[in-house]
Amino acid sequence: LRVRERAVLPASVRSDLDNDLTAPAEIECMSQPRILMLGPPGAGKGTQSANLADEYDVSHITTGDALRANKDMDISDMDTEYDTPREYMEAGDLVPDAVVNAIVDEALSSADGFVLDGYPRNPEQADELEDMTDLDVVLSLEVSRDELVARRTGRRVCDDCGTNYHVEFDQPEVEGVCDGCGGDLVQREDDNEESVRNRLNVFDENTQPVIDGYENHDGYVAIDGERTPDEVWADIRSAVEEHAE
Ligand code: AP5
Repeated sequence: LRVRERAVLPASVRSDLDNDLTAPAEIECMSQPRILMLGPPGAGKGTQSANLADEYDVSHITTGDALRANKDMDISDMDTEYDTPREYMEAGDLVPDAVVNAIVDEALSSADGFVLDGYPRNPEQADELEDMTDLDVVLSLEVSRDELVARRTGRRVCDDCGTNYHVEFDQPEVEGVCDGCGGDLVQREDDNEESVRNRLNVFDENTQPVIDGYENHDGYVAIDGERTPDEVWADIRSAVEEHAE
């Protein structure tokens, strides 16, 4: 069973949420690795982060999932252009930093080891993260643009547990049904062509400079993400074994 971190939001918006976001992370011991997972949209961050969470028993902190679970929360008191995250996400734009920083700060404060997926996405978020925690391993998944588009348009996600599948590369045993929990497999609303294209542009402009900035980190490892999920996972596990204390 894959356990996903449920992020916690600031008190100012918490009362507006429909979802319970307060499930605490399980704390094992102080030596669990602190892993950052970087890469463009569709590179396999979510897929491989779930493997890391299983293997090392760390929290999977994912801003994308936390925001998807709370798309319609009222953020109007945070001085944002739109009143909810939904408008930003469906267009493939970044949700304002104040919202996302609060999610990560709260989630990290209750986690010991973790794999952080989907954050930081711009230099300002990277500065915030530096003030929140140290990192043992920084993984950067590298995948070509053509492959990214194919992966995104073919992705299917379990409506219940969030496990990723692909109509061609990673099929479930029964079409449309999650192997793990039996939930329905659905297409994400932002996996349409226009949003996919915009997210890649947003990545180039905002997130690629963040990845460049991590290249000098002691735990930085670039991973060729354009191979089978098992091959990619083997390299990721080696990188974590080498760099985690
Ligand atoms: P988020 O959910 O983080 O989306 P993303 O970063 O765009 O990444 P994806 O989830 O699309 O891809 P992935 O790399 O996880 O790939 P996956 O494993 O699914 O963010 C969504 C939105 O939320 C953003 O657009 C933004 O609006 C907002 N947001 C989130 N964080 C934010 C932040 N910090 N600041 C501001 N806004 C934020 O794999 C993709 C597919 O490929 C799957 O079907 C999978 O089965 C398949 N696959 C995986 N690996 C392989 C492989 N090796 N070979 C073949 N197929 C593979």
